[in-house]
Amino acid sequence: MNINNLETPALVLDAKTFSENIGAMKEILAGSTLKLRPHYKSHKCSLLAHLQIKDGAKGMTCAKLSEAIDLADSGIEDILIANQITDDKKIRRLADLAGDCHLTVCVDNIINVEKLAEAARNAGNIIYCYIEFEIGMERCGVKTKEEALFLAKAISEKTHLRYAGIQAYAGHISHEVSEEERKRLTLENAAKIKELVSFLKENGIDTENISGGSTGTAMIKAKDSLYTELQAGSYLFMDATYKDLNLPFKNSLFVLTTVVSKNDDLTVIDAGVKTCGVDQGMPEIVGNKAEKIVASEEHFQLHGLKEKVAIGDKLLLIPGHCCSTVNLHDKIYIMADGKIVDRIIITGKGIGR
Ligand SMILES: Cc1ncc(COP(=O)(O)O)c(C=O)c1O
Repeated sequence: MNINNLETPALVLDAKTFSENIGAMKEILAGSTLKLRPHYKSHKCSLLAHLQIKDGAKGMTCAKLSEAIDLADSGIEDILIANQITDDKKIRRLADLAGDCHLTVCVDNIINVEKLAEAARNAGNIIYCYIEFEIGMERCGVKTKEEALFLAKAISEKTHLRYAGIQAYAGHISHEVSEEERKRLTLENAAKIKELVSFLKENGIDTENISGGSTGTAMIKAKDSLYTELQAGSYLFMDATYKDLNLPFKNSLFVLTTVVSKNDDLTVIDAGVKTCGVDQGMPEIVGNKAEKIVASEEHFQLHGLKEKVAIGDKLLLIPGHCCSTVNLHDKIYIMADGKIVDRIIITGKGIGR
């Protein structure tokens, strides 16, 4: 089917660019001790997770227990939940899930460690723990090496928990436009983590894994061998936010949309915030440019389009943020040479618990 026959709005993936992005990541990691543990949040498709594993990824990263369940249910064997699970009911489900796969979860609090230990013991399963270390993002994580040591020792004393490493994710650096500044901040953080790992070692705790990193810092991380796992997700698709960072990845994911109304300088299309994530910014239009874009639920209002369009014309949008866009769709249509050649079901659509 010709792409223009698709009902819109529809999420489409350019097969060639997608494959090139996979190849570019392989090239970055070739010869490095850093292993890919890609983030499922970007595609939320069990099928693509299996493709990444077959292609050499050591396991998957996800954000939510429900996402880990989707991955485990599809047969993925090594899963990291890069977050804290603190709700009692979820902790019990997590402990059960640890019987189905090698399951790692982040911790930054002793009460949470105690609860995980009890649930894992009751379930008769082992839960692996990464201590999350806060390195400037101001999200989760312990702030001092002493707190990390305290948690590592507590974990080591539990029969059904294993201290498996550190998560240090610096998401605030990923989109830093200046390559030099991105590198400086990443290396500054690497020094902090090195100090932490040495401190833990001096106190009898060996750290096997250091996990983190993103599409924006992959190249820097692959050169400094401190991290062992790279959690990049967006590299497969890219988006308008990552587009101009001079990374070796290209935009492969688009929202196909139709012009539904025109009025003087204003063009209205049938995609809005319910089909194209704007949490990191407005979409860009392939081969065109708007002076201003206003978003509503089912429409984008494009003011002052550079190239003329007519009602019924199809436009391709580069989403502002690929991950939040994928979460809004049921399927990704695969496009090759302007034709739809397949589609993938987004098994994790909208699951956020
Ligand atoms: C914990 C964690 N790891 C990795 C990533 C991957 O980042 P990216 O999609 O920018 O590669 C994210 C993104 O939000 C994240 O929250």
